[in-house]
Amino acid sequence: MALTRNILDLRKRKQTIEKGGGDKAIQKQVSMGKLTARERILAIVDEDSFNEYDMFVEHQARDFDMDKKVLHGDGVITGTGTIFGRPVCIYAQDFTVAGGSLGLMHARKITKMMDHALKLRVPLIGINDSGGARIQEGVNSLAGYGEIFFRNTLASGVIPQLSVILGPCAGGAVYSPALTDFVFVVENISKMFITGPEVIKTVLGEEISMEDLGGAKVHSEITGNAHFYALSEKECFKQIKELLSFIPWNNGEKARSYPAKKPKRGYKIQNIVPNDPSQPYDVRDVIKSLVDESYFFEVMEKFAPNIVIGFGRLEGDTIGFIANQPKYLAGVLDCDSSDKAARFIRYCDAFNIPIITLEDMPGYLPGVDQEHMGVIRHGAKILYSYSEATVPKITVVLRKAYGGGYIAMNSRHLRADFMFSWPNAEIAVMGPEGAANIIFRKEIMNAEDPDKMRKLKVKEYKEKFANPYVAAAKGYIDSVIEPEETRKTLIHAVNVSKNKHDGRPKKKHGLPPF
Ligand code: HXC
Repeated sequence: MALTRNILDLRKRKQTIEKGGGDKAIQKQVSMGKLTARERILAIVDEDSFNEYDMFVEHQARDFDMDKKVLHGDGVITGTGTIFGRPVCIYAQDFTVAGGSLGLMHARKITKMMDHALKLRVPLIGINDSGGARIQEGVNSLAGYGEIFFRNTLASGVIPQLSVILGPCAGGAVYSPALTDFVFVVENISKMFITGPEVIKTVLGEEISMEDLGGAKVHSEITGNAHFYALSEKECFKQIKELLSFIPWNNGEKARSYPAKKPKRGYKIQNIVPNDPSQPYDVRDVIKSLVDESYFFEVMEKFAPNIVIGFGRLEGDTIGFIANQPKYLAGVLDCDSSDKAARFIRYCDAFNIPIITLEDMPGYLPGVDQEHMGVIRHGAKILYSYSEATVPKITVVLRKAYGGGYIAMNSRHLRADFMFSWPNAEIAVMGPEGAANIIFRKEIMNAEDPDKMRKLKVKEYKEKFANPYVAAAKGYIDSVIEPEETRKTLIHAVNVSKNKHDGRPKKKHGLPPF
């Protein structure tokens, strides 16, 4: 059938718009090791599934000669597609068009997609590559950001919101990713900052490169703004899909189940945790010895490594794991690790993902720095999040559970559903050395051989209190189990909790210690 003039015209229009900012700008994009906006979307969604909308939208700016400028798609590509055959809403800012800057119509395209995502109850994926507010559009650009932030907040806890930083994300633009659930960054490509190096130099006289100020490493290791770090865009897209395989499409659903698989044979749970409570080990090996195929998808791997968070499966069902990491700072809780764990707990709770907590830690980190950084306020977040969460919550005490840490790490008192402990665990107000020095101080001081007396008293304290049986005798621990029984015990606990129904008093909202 011969193509009509109208169809040929449509095709020509589309081809022109698909060229974005033109060959030269695309070449610049490619030379920086970046894919184009369209290539990025097509690499993320299922093959042939992307449907673009608002391709013909034009900007309405008139000042600064803008009326003479054509900005294809107004610098952003928006549409719907599928991932694993399930719908998603997606947008990608096109840096080749006016630096992906955000003007009124650009913002409207994004907010239209956000409204769709919320109504359709599907994940929203936003790819950021932009110079920020389009300077020529003034307050209209600022209004655009405000509309986006409002919708990010509205959708929070209802649909998953993923932000992928694949270029600059400067000024107030950073607050949209910060309001979303997961932020992905790529080495040498992602840059996030409120004020760039030039402003910093002018105002403060300090010199810093863009990479050192707000590159991928900085946000994955220091600020905690990023949740996933990749060496290439390709690796980043793999991480996005991996994450989506673990989480539900909205807060009214549960995560998709996969066929049950056994852990790999290499991980022998009984050999991982040393008996000596001062010996470190990698708690991720414990998680891997428990989960299907020993596959643990870690979140925020490089930030606050003294706590480990991430997803794994037990007999095909997604579980959120939170575990103290004795390999770093003995697994203590501090400001950063409390923030990291607290937000993850809230994520799992909002999206119906059962939480398993593996505990081995000496308490909160002491020190002036921590106190002055607000460890009281930050540490309280973890208490708040566990207490607030109503999804199935299960804890296993692997070794040490001292003081505030015992309470904070999903104790019975914060409404853990099931509390298990390994037989070598020590559940007490503090470690035996510290405890003996305080409560037997006089006896030790007055003894003929104080060292010998101290050792004796430490032993006495250990036998009496530093074990799981005092807590088990009071019903705070439900069961003392052998390490090899852990997976079986956890699977049972998760399975019996599938229809858990729990509530909290009705309120407009609580006031978590932000
Ligand atoms: C309009 C912009 C722009 C912007 C870039 N461009 N940013 N146009 N508004 N914000 C245009 C450039 O003029 C250029 O157009 C093209 O995009 C590519 O930009 P280059 O500078 O050539 O690219 P590059 O050298 O790679 O540098 C990228 C950059 C730089 C680091 C992002 O462009 C930059 O510093 N931009 C400004 C960043 C910024 O301060 N934004 C405002 C933040 S305030 P031509 O036509 O030459 O190709 C903000 C407030 C929001 O966002 C508040 C919300 C609450």
